Amino acid sequence: MKVLAIETSCDETAAAVVEHRHGRFVVRSNVVYSQISLHAKTGGVVPEVAAREHCVKIAPVIEQALHRAHVAPKQLDALAVTAGPGLLPALAVGVEAARTLAWLWHRPLIPVNHIEGHVAANWLLNVPIRFPVLCLVVSGGHTELLLMTSPRGFRCIGRTLDDAAGEAFDKVGKLMRLPYPGGPSISKLAVNGNPKRYDLPRPMFSAKNFDFSFAGIKTAVLYLVHGVPGKGKKQKAKVKKADVAASFQQAVIDVLVGKTIRAAKEHNAKSVLLGGGVAANRMLRAAMERAVATRLSNVDYHQPLLEYTTDNAAMIGARALQIFKKKKTWPWQRVAPDPNWELWDAGQNA
Ligand code: KG4
Ligand code: ZN
Repeated sequence: MKVLAIETSCDETAAAVVEHRHGRFVVRSNVVYSQISLHAKTGGVVPEVAAREHCVKIAPVIEQALHRAHVAPKQLDALAVTAGPGLLPALAVGVEAARTLAWLWHRPLIPVNHIEGHVAANWLLNVPIRFPVLCLVVSGGHTELLLMTSPRGFRCIGRTLDDAAGEAFDKVGKLMRLPYPGGPSISKLAVNGNPKRYDLPRPMFSAKNFDFSFAGIKTAVLYLVHGVPGKGKKQKAKVKKADVAASFQQAVIDVLVGKTIRAAKEHNAKSVLLGGGVAANRMLRAAMERAVATRLSNVDYHQPLLEYTTDNAAMIGARALQIFKKKKTWPWQRVAPDPNWELWDAGQNA
């Protein structure tokens, strides 16, 4: 089975051809056009600006994906597209392109949830994944702990109450005047920093639930770097930027890892997975791997290859193929962009 997948939920225009053959996922092509340089000017994504750029790039990106895969439209079994969640004007470009091609080529169109795509990036590893699965999805828009009892159904058992983890990285990067986006800039700077230098809060670390909150850490960094408002300039200490970056990163990692391990124990998970743009953070990857190995017994750990952590269409193709196998396909007429697209719930959809 072969699909052409399209992803335009935020600031990456992406298309990929993914195949499921003899029980393995094969990424035949994976083309990502990143708009980072465009959004660096505003220090964040302006939805209409992103959508306009998707309009310009979507056709060449799709053409490249087919070309690199050496696949003709008639060899495709279906098309897939991220229908949500995401920025509505950005999603609409990918969805409309996919609808048009599905109509022209007489193929079914599979709408995919972006978060489920981040989770499915782990299946591109082609290793057996034991259920129940606990997956931490950490991106610019989401921080969620998802429990899966089968590839079909997701249950969200915890989420951020304010900023997403990636959003916190980006905001801290901005207030430290680091290049956009903050996530990669902070992790680079943190390499030479002391993570124990500044004592930053670990919000909700001990809370009984599995929710997160990152706004407090961000505010603590703001006060550390720019001083507490109303206290005058005198109390503003000279800080070492690399130490701030390392201390901030460590605070976020401690909370993410601590809560994931506790959730895995409580829900008897057999595998822990990671996904989303923040999963590109090498310290987080190493810390989670170590924690699963040392604090859980008989639990596997998987994390996507780096190229499938930040937004891409290969992960959307993987999820679409999982859905397609269950014969859940939608006629293209019924697929529309939906910023609040719900997770696949086995109870409702099975
Ligand atoms: O999944 P993604 O590409 O887009 C969304 O779905 O939001 O995630 C982007 C997020 C950004 O906030 C970016 O700063 C963060 O992932 N990110 C990182 C790293 N690389 C990307 N955060 C921390 N460390 C990194 N190395
Ligand atoms: Zn994403």
